[in-house]
Amino acid sequence: MAKYFYIGFFVLCLLVIVIAGPQGKHSPNRPIQVFPDMVMQPKVKPQSPSGFFADGVGPRRPVEGTVPLGYDIPHPAPVNNTRVAGAEHPAVELEKGAFTGAPDYANTGKMGDHWGKGFPIPVTAELMERGRERFTIYCAVCHGANGGGNGVTTKYNWPTVANYHDQRIVDMPEGEIFNTLTNGKNTMMGYGANIAVRDRWAIIAYIRALQRAQRGTINDVPPEQRASLK
Ligand code: HEC
Repeated sequence: MAKYFYIGFFVLCLLVIVIAGPQGKHSPNRPIQVFPDMVMQPKVKPQSPSGFFADGVGPRRPVEGTVPLGYDIPHPAPVNNTRVAGAEHPAVELEKGAFTGAPDYANTGKMGDHWGKGFPIPVTAELMERGRERFTIYCAVCHGANGGGNGVTTKYNWPTVANYHDQRIVDMPEGEIFNTLTNGKNTMMGYGANIAVRDRWAIIAYIRALQRAQRGTINDVPPEQRASLK
């Protein structure tokens, strides 16, 4: 009896060694696949050759003049690009070189450890119009045309969408909004890969305009025109 136990135990040990022993070892042979599913695909692996193209190179070069999605064409870095809210800064100079992909305010929304306030480029009527257009394309479906959080998706049980007219978002620094727009927040995905940096600031300028529009009072109307509203 004991003899069979020892033989059985020995065979079991051998099995464990044979099966588990070479795990993690590299082998030049293809693994044995009972159900290969989609493990083997006729695709080009990065940096590997391919007989499909005449030049034998697998990965293709981007088309001449290709620009990475979501980024502006790099300009030479500006001398001082930390803050432009003050009028004394040569803002036009900055606009030329604001979006370098450098980890500065224009590209991160951060000033040091904090979310920055203000815009890294001049807020012009042209920028605002661009922002209105981009906002309508990218944000209004959820946030609503007036930013009230009542976009068309809310009719399809989309989870609660932030209302831009909440005091919290009115008080939110521009830099933090830039970050939400770029990287997303909770259930909202980021748009950094889809919207160029300058357009993100344009959208934020337009959001500020929407907020201002909802908070107007009679004091915003020129005195001579107030009577016509009554
Ligand atoms: C697919 C729907 C959807 C789209 C499109 C969308 N958002 Fe949102 N957004 C949300 C939701 C949902 C929230 C609330 C997230 C949460 O739970 O805090 C939100 C929150 C926000 C907030 C508030 C973040 C905070 O700190 O509370 C800002 C600012 C914002 N979105 C800006 C934008 C901008 C700008 C765009 C367009 C580029 C945009 N969103 C597009 C769904 C969307």
